[in-house]
Amino acid sequence: MKIAILGGTGALGKGLATRWIKSNHEIIIGSRKFDKAQHIAQSLGLDKSSGMLNIDAAKKCEIACLTVPYTHQEDILRSIEDSLKKKILIDATVPLIPPKIMRVQLPQEGSAALKAQLILGESTKVISAFQNISAELLQSTQEVDCDVLVTGNNFEARSTVISLVNDAGLKGWHAGPLCNSVAAEALTSVLISINKNHSIDHSGIKITGI
Ligand SMILES: NC(=O)c1ccc[n+]([C@@H]2O[C@H](COP(=O)([O-])OP(=O)(O)OC[C@H]3O[C@@H](n4cnc5c(N)ncnc54)[C@H](OP(=O)(O)O)[C@@H]3O)[C@@H](O)[C@H]2O)c1
Repeated sequence: MKIAILGGTGALGKGLATRWIKSNHEIIIGSRKFDKAQHIAQSLGLDKSSGMLNIDAAKKCEIACLTVPYTHQEDILRSIEDSLKKKILIDATVPLIPPKIMRVQLPQEGSAALKAQLILGESTKVISAFQNISAELLQSTQEVDCDVLVTGNNFEARSTVISLVNDAGLKGWHAGPLCNSVAAEALTSVLISINKNHSIDHSGIKITGI
């Protein structure tokens, strides 16, 4: 698929790009800065032209993936909302509010993903995923021993994203409607606490009993 990673110059964006390039998806790196997008695209082994401004990346893709810090989620979505109509947006945003990132702090909309859906309206299918995966591990060649909870209101769109999760070498699970994204988003602060208190680099989650 032609996937635009919006904010794809950052840690998670580069990690997902690395994995999806390996499974032959066509990746577009989006950024606020044209030169930066092109530079990162090249550093990932892509053609320079695969790096572009977020707005152009959103226009050109079949499916978009948002990987920017929570504080900038609303601004970027408002700037590209028209280009995302009738498309799937994978939202990986975790509503972390530094410095208290070990504390679950949810937005008044309920979760970052619900906020994204409110901003974009129902013509964009927001699917939430990847909140509990370490970007550092994704950028490495290591196997990532962490499952991905995938939530969203449209079963078909959720299934599409689960295929992409699996293509990234991870195991994706249908975790219910978008309102359930709150669990995955909140879990990130739990995992950060576990990392800190148990001196672990990348704790993750695994569905058992299967
Ligand atoms: N890091 C992880 O391990 C991880 C894991 C799971 C989920 N997440 C979530 O994924 C999201 C991205 O995390 P990250 O660690 O990749 O973040 P990051 O590296 O700090 O930032 C990602 C990109 O966001 C863009 N950005 C920064 N300020 C912006 C603004 N004002 N407007 C628009 N774009 C802006 C930047 O791209 P340009 O400068 O090129 O525009 C930057 O490269 C966050 O919501 C995070 O909670 C992260």
